[in-house]
Amino acid sequence: MGTYDRELIATARAMVAPGKGLLAMDESNGTCAKRFEKLGIPVTIERRRTYRELIIGTPNLADYISGAILYDETIRQSSQAGVPLVKMLEAAGMIPGIKLDLGAKDLPGCPGEKVTEGLDGLRERIAEYYQMGARFAKWRAVIAIDASIPSDTCLIVNAHALARYAALCQEGGLVPIVEPEVLIDGDHSIERCYEVTDRTLQVVFAQLRLNRVELDKMILKPSMVLSGESCSEQASVDLVAQMTVRCLRDNVPTSVPGIAFLSGGQSNERATAHLNAIHTQYGSECPWAVTFSYARAIQQPALDHWHGDDANIPEAQRRLYQRAKLNAAASMGQYMPEMEREMSMV
Ligand code: G3H
Repeated sequence: MGTYDRELIATARAMVAPGKGLLAMDESNGTCAKRFEKLGIPVTIERRRTYRELIIGTPNLADYISGAILYDETIRQSSQAGVPLVKMLEAAGMIPGIKLDLGAKDLPGCPGEKVTEGLDGLRERIAEYYQMGARFAKWRAVIAIDASIPSDTCLIVNAHALARYAALCQEGGLVPIVEPEVLIDGDHSIERCYEVTDRTLQVVFAQLRLNRVELDKMILKPSMVLSGESCSEQASVDLVAQMTVRCLRDNVPTSVPGIAFLSGGQSNERATAHLNAIHTQYGSECPWAVTFSYARAIQQPALDHWHGDDANIPEAQRRLYQRAKLNAAASMGQYMPEMEREMSMV
């Protein structure tokens, strides 16, 4: 038995507990700046702190959210009242997680492709974050689709980094979220997305095994199998659910305790409807817990409403709570589009 075995298994199960999902709020300062600038919100450390406190302080968020993925800046910050944000999360009943990757950088020799960096010094960073209270982590690899990509180079180097990260996390007591995101950008068909996602997952699981990652102590965070954003023919909700489950069944061993999808640029409603259809239509074919780990598809209505004005915090929190509730319902196959009406009722 490894030092953290029991704890890792318990944490992984708690992350995907029935009726709950994960909230990704780990946007890097660069990504956060883009989202703030779009709304005219000043890009300052103080505004980021206020926004993150708004999210964590949402009353009863733990009804539907098992854990939240934080960014390095956030895990070190305190609320306006001086309470460390990580302590606020714990007190509210949510597990703190941490983004460990340092971002996707251009992959030399492979135009249009990226490799995610952050392995150097990772063992020491994991030890520090564990001390600070983190119990799980995230590393995102990005796989772009075009006529001639992804290359094998891109798939292998990214999968290798994901596996090295995951092994180090397990050694240091953090449950690794393994996130290979096949991007929605492009005009590719859903069949092409299926083909790329299938190959990506094959390579990822081969590398996880090679690097001795224990599959019962990790969570997979995949993208759904979707039509490219600018494809003229958009697949139906049912087809997305069907092809997503088929691809996962073909590649994800049953020993993996949970799958928590990213939203990847889908509209809020589509991300919820797809997760719901996965459960209502194909739930019996899923041997793993299947839930969400959305960022944009949970946060966007709250961010839009807050708009940088603190007078809007209570209503922004209500919208965040509603989106979490709808996704939690979808994670049990209990979502109905009519429920969206509650979102707009003040
Ligand atoms: O790495 C990406 C996030 O964890 C998920 O973000 O739901 O906006 O795609 P998203």
